[in-house]
Amino acid sequence: MNPSPVVGILMGSDSDFEVMREAGRVLKEFAIPFEMLVTSAHRTPQRTHQYATEAAEKGLKVLIVGAGAAAHLAGVVAAVTTLPVIGVPLSATDLKGMDALLATVQMPGGIPVATMAIGKAGATNAALYAARILALTQPQIAEKLNAYGAEMARGVEKKNQALQEQLAHL
Ligand code: RP5
Repeated sequence: MNPSPVVGILMGSDSDFEVMREAGRVLKEFAIPFEMLVTSAHRTPQRTHQYATEAAEKGLKVLIVGAGAAAHLAGVVAAVTTLPVIGVPLSATDLKGMDALLATVQMPGGIPVATMAIGKAGATNAALYAARILALTQPQIAEKLNAYGAEMARGVEKKNQALQEQLAHL
């Protein structure tokens, strides 16, 4: 039997999946069980409300919410749950995500949404941020986060070495 999801990844449309799959990919790498669904603040408001109000009692610990355009999804979810909500603004219009960024980040005082960068970097960081929250009570996730950071540093060092070799042949 699959373990119960502890992270819910919501997106406003299936057109968001190409970017939001990055969040799923990172959670999978960390062996963090998650579920992913399309639900919209504007097109399916009742369903969104029901999911968000029931999320905590279902055992979810963190919600990652991606949306583009007039991106109200993260905000309306955060309005009806005390779970941490991480917003990922997506590029879906001629404004290239600036609309979604402002709609997601400019929450009124009292309803927090932790807003990440626009697009894939934001989706990746949303998953890493969720992992950091879960690591507070699950030391094995903290260990994986440390290993992830060390691997990233090794990658940068390799790039620097390659650059130094190229410089030697200028
Ligand atoms: C938002 O509108 C969705 O999150 C999506 O980014 C955008 C466009 O949705 P579609 O018209 O592609 O379904 O609600």
